[in-house]
Formats: sequence, C-alpha cells, structure tokens
Amino acid sequence: MADTGGSRKPLISGNWKMNHNHLEAIQVVQKLSYALDKADYDASDVSVHPPFTGLRSIQTVLDADRIPILLGAQNCHWEDKGAFTGEVSAPMLAKLNVSLVIVGHSERRQLFGETDDMVSKKAQAVFAHGMTPIVCVGETLEEREAGGTDDKVRGQVTAALSGLSPDQVSRLVFAYEPIWAIGTGRTASAADAQAICGLIRGLVGDHVSAEAAGAVRVQYGGSVKPTNIAELMDQPDIDGALVGGASLDPDEFARMVRWRTPT
Ligand code: PGA
Repeated sequence: MADTGGSRKPLISGNWKMNHNHLEAIQVVQKLSYALDKADYDASDVSVHPPFTGLRSIQTVLDADRIPILLGAQNCHWEDKGAFTGEVSAPMLAKLNVSLVIVGHSERRQLFGETDDMVSKKAQAVFAHGMTPIVCVGETLEEREAGGTDDKVRGQVTAALSGLSPDQVSRLVFAYEPIWAIGTGRTASAADAQAICGLIRGLVGDHVSAEAAGAVRVQYGGSVKPTNIAELMDQPDIDGALVGGASLDPDEFARMVRWRTPT
C-alpha cells in the first residue's frame, strides 16, 4: 500500500535484549544523550529497551537530566498482578514511566512459546495502562522459502488488531522482523522490507480504517546497521527501525538515529 501521507514521526528503538546490567545501562544512556541533540529528538522518537533490571536506573537518569529518550520494555504479562512467578505487569512498567513495550518479539514467540493470542492480550494490557505496544511480526527462513511470508505476517497482524480499538491502532507500532535476519547480519532488501511493511499498513486499512493505516507506525528490524538504515528508512512504509545488536554501542546507535546525516 502506498504511503497515505500520515505524519508519522520516525521511531528508532534499541532493543538491548539480555545485555547490559543496570550500571552499564546507565553509561550507555548517558553516552547516547551526549551524542544526540534537540534536532535529533525533533526529527525522530528514540527509545531504549533495557532488561527489566535497568528500567528504574535509566528512568532516574532520564528524569534527572531531562533527556527526551523514551523508556521502553521488552515484554510484559497481560494480567495486572497475581500468581505469575517471574513475570512483570503493564502497570508496574507504567509506574516507571515506560512509554513503549515490545510484545511478541520472535525470540519470545520461538523460545518462550508466545502465541498470537498471548501477544494480543499483552498489546491490550499495554494500551490499558497508557503505554504503546510495539508488536513484532515476521516469518522464519523456512516459511519465506516456501512462499509463506505474506500469510504468516497477515495472520500475526490480524490477530494483534482484533483486540484493539481504531484509536489504539492509530497509535500502535508494528515491527516487521524477518526471523532469518535477526542477529544474522542478513537484512531484507529495502524493496522486500517495504513490500511487507506496506502489506501491514494495507491490512490496517482493510481491518480498521484508512485513517488508522495512515497513522500506524511500522518499523523494520533485523540486522539494521549504520550502513543500511538510510536505505530502509527511505522506503515510504517504513517509519522506523527496531535495532538489536547495533543499539548496544551508544555511538553506533546515535549514528543510526542520525541516519539522514552520512558519516
Ligand atoms: P538485530 O535484532 O538488530 O540484532 O538483528 C533486532 C531485533 O531482534 O529486534
């Protein structure tokens, strides 16, 4: 689907996965804040998604130094509280000024058995507590080689949309992350990434409204690097990047936030 002209501010997110203890996390965020300036924040939303143990420390740094980096989490449970040992709930994250929560990352789906139904409930819980979910979707290499990419993504997107209101969908973020491209150094070509991000926007148009399709933000993720981010971001239906490995180093991540400025 062609760009519908919505004013979608780019969102560059660093998913640190299980990296950086809270002391390292503080250093990375401080270095990132030294590298970025007002013009960068005006041009793009920037989020960091540390492990749970880093959230409180980073919140304190962002508040104290008034740094406009958005605080993000990597996961949450869909219930507010209860007997769910090891889980963290959406209201707990909201209390830490978390703005964005990744739900349904392929590592959660593949390694921890998260289903479309669980991802849908998590996205609803995130919205219910005033935050924004980043819903991850994407196909495996086998699915891609069997020509099943569109069907896989269509099923995941439709399931996520089913529990959300049109207004929520307008604020939602999808991340298209082909699983074969995550952490492998292989990236989808800009044209392939655009095709699937356009498919996602089209599904929002079909299932929700043209207005929501124009507003929903779609990120691409999977081995995004300073050297390939500009070409991806130039695509009409790609509104941001969900960056894993290359977000761990603050200088590298800052270069990606500044993708418009060749270095
Ligand atoms: P990667 O990870 O950039 O290291 O491929 C992306 C992600 O899993 O979000």
